[in-house]
Amino acid sequence: MGTPHTGPSVTADGAGCRLRPSPTAYAVRLEGLRARDGAALDALLKQLPEPPWDAEVAVDDALVGLLGQRGFEVYAKGAVMARPVDGVPKGHAVGIEFVPYRNDWAEAFTLAETAAMEGVAAFRELGSPSGYEWGEGQGAFWIARDAKGRLLGFAHADLPDGWIDWLGVVPDARRQGIGRGLIAAVARQVGEASGTHLVAFAEDGTAAAAFLGRLGFTERGRRALLIRRAA
Ligand SMILES: CC(C)(COP(=O)(O)OP(=O)(O)OC[C@H]1O[C@@H](n2cnc3c(N)ncnc32)[C@H](O)[C@@H]1OP(=O)(O)O)[C@@H](O)C(=O)NCCC(=O)NCCS
Repeated sequence: MGTPHTGPSVTADGAGCRLRPSPTAYAVRLEGLRARDGAALDALLKQLPEPPWDAEVAVDDALVGLLGQRGFEVYAKGAVMARPVDGVPKGHAVGIEFVPYRNDWAEAFTLAETAAMEGVAAFRELGSPSGYEWGEGQGAFWIARDAKGRLLGFAHADLPDGWIDWLGVVPDARRQGIGRGLIAAVARQVGEASGTHLVAFAEDGTAAAAFLGRLGFTERGRRALLIRRAA
């Protein structure tokens, strides 16, 4: 279940992908990558701009092995999880306000992001600042803050497809319903944009699968994220 982005398309005999900025690594994302065999993949890779490149593929796809032989490393594994946008449970975090993100909060955002995303492979690969701090007005981008204005959590999703690519709550504010409230805010906006589903990648080793499962998301397949770093 890839996101239907329309980046420039690159093709070779028996292989193809589209190019876009990776949402989870400092790399060009090879979106919708397909290749008949190693030779077709080599012909495609020759046409690309310089690495770093990354790709998200099904864990049981032969591409995992083919990419591995060509210098790609797996940097994360996990489950794609999805649910309909209608009927997302409402948030109930006491004393917390949910508002659209503004770029003039970039500094506070980067601090919260560093705390919330520690240990998440996608954040390690993106580096800090991640670039999301310039995301005002792009897709559905909500933050949670307390009465003193401290930024405690954030969620970003693409519109209208509802792909949640960035979500975190600072450790000392977890288990108070903030994540749930952020998903509710994003869901409202995805619904208004006529999106039908929310989709997210639950990285192994994080609380994401437990959290998303509680919110009614179900697993739609296992994926690996692979990166070929700059030479
Ligand atoms: C995942 C994350 C955003 C959850 O945020 P949160 O504000 O703690 O979530 P909520 O308080 O709204 O949790 C809602 C429910 O999800 C479940 N849940 C959340 N964290 C959980 C955990 N660590 N273990 C088990 N269940 C969990 C619980 O059922 C919880 O309800 P409860 O507290 O009443 O039992 C947060 O843990 C986080 O930032 N993790 C690191 C970043 C990350 O993995 N991001 C990717 C997410 S797709």
